[in-house]
Amino acid sequence: MRIFSGIRPSGELHLGNYLGAIKQWVELQNNNECIFCIVDLHAITTPYDAQEMPQRVIDQAISYLALGLNPEKCILIVQSHLKEHLELAWLLGSITPIGELQRMTQFKEKKKKHKKYINAGLLNYPVLMAADILIYQSEIVPVGEDQKQHVELTQTIAKKFNNKFGETFKIPKVQMNKDGARIMSLSDPKSKMSKSDGGKGCIDLFEEPQIITKKIMSAVTDTQKKIKYDRAKKPGISNLLNIYSLLKDISVAEAEEELKGKSYSEFKKILADLTISFLEPLRSKRNELASREVYVQEILSQGAKRAKIMAQETMDDVKKKMGL
Ligand code: TYM
Repeated sequence: MRIFSGIRPSGELHLGNYLGAIKQWVELQNNNECIFCIVDLHAITTPYDAQEMPQRVIDQAISYLALGLNPEKCILIVQSHLKEHLELAWLLGSITPIGELQRMTQFKEKKKKHKKYINAGLLNYPVLMAADILIYQSEIVPVGEDQKQHVELTQTIAKKFNNKFGETFKIPKVQMNKDGARIMSLSDPKSKMSKSDGGKGCIDLFEEPQIITKKIMSAVTDTQKKIKYDRAKKPGISNLLNIYSLLKDISVAEAEEELKGKSYSEFKKILADLTISFLEPLRSKRNELASREVYVQEILSQGAKRAKIMAQETMDDVKKKMGL
């Protein structure tokens, strides 16, 4: 299967990115043809610092490697290195109804959040995402739940193109981790864990152990005592159970069984220790790679070369079909 996914270089990667997306990528690279991307062109649609961007891209590549992506098993690319993504986005834009873009949840949320930064790029964001996916004839897109709507729009665009200009694109499927599709904020378990939730509710993957402990110990839960999964009534504990089960690779039911009789604070301490020991080897791998930027740059330029061949093949076909 051909697989594509990406993450914006707009801050440190967090536990939600890992459990929602990267954990799946690391498994999928073993038996599939995978392309994993640093989507810098998407990152510029919200406020950012141009001076910092090159380092952010390199840091994210280093993190990908530290987290287990292996350049011998998958292709690692930076979106802006391949102009074909932009070329296809323009062409797909010409068949994408503006109403579809305006109804996207993420567009509405970002419009509200960045009132002074409502640009056309933010609206066209899902068209570029569709281009990222379709240009490689991807069949599976492993993401967290918040990106599902964008992948569905990609399917709509691909079908529309195929109907209008003849069979061209494979229709990609979204793939989500059963329990990790939506990791919630520790400080507000009714909203998604994200880089922008003020830091308290979000665990960065390479955060200092004391801070991880502090954040988990102060995670918002409920006033009951039983460690039981119930998203509606016990969102905080359910979220912690999700994280625990994913880090241990067991089911939520098994996690409940293991933690039976423990108090909330005992559970939090166990989870904090588990998270720290899970992340520790990844952190030392990252530190080791930090001094090898030239090697990492080389991986990205090799990735771009390999991806370009596939991207150009699609572009030639698309342009011919569109009469260009
Ligand atoms: P981004 O950068 O916001 O998020 C990257 C990935 O992390 C997942 N994720 C989560 N999963 C579970 N719980 C959470 N709290 C959580 N927070 C983030 C996201 O679902 C995503 O999989 N537009 C995309 C990037 C993109 C892309 C693509 C993805 C661009 N082109 C093509 C797939 C295919 C985005 O902004 O993701």
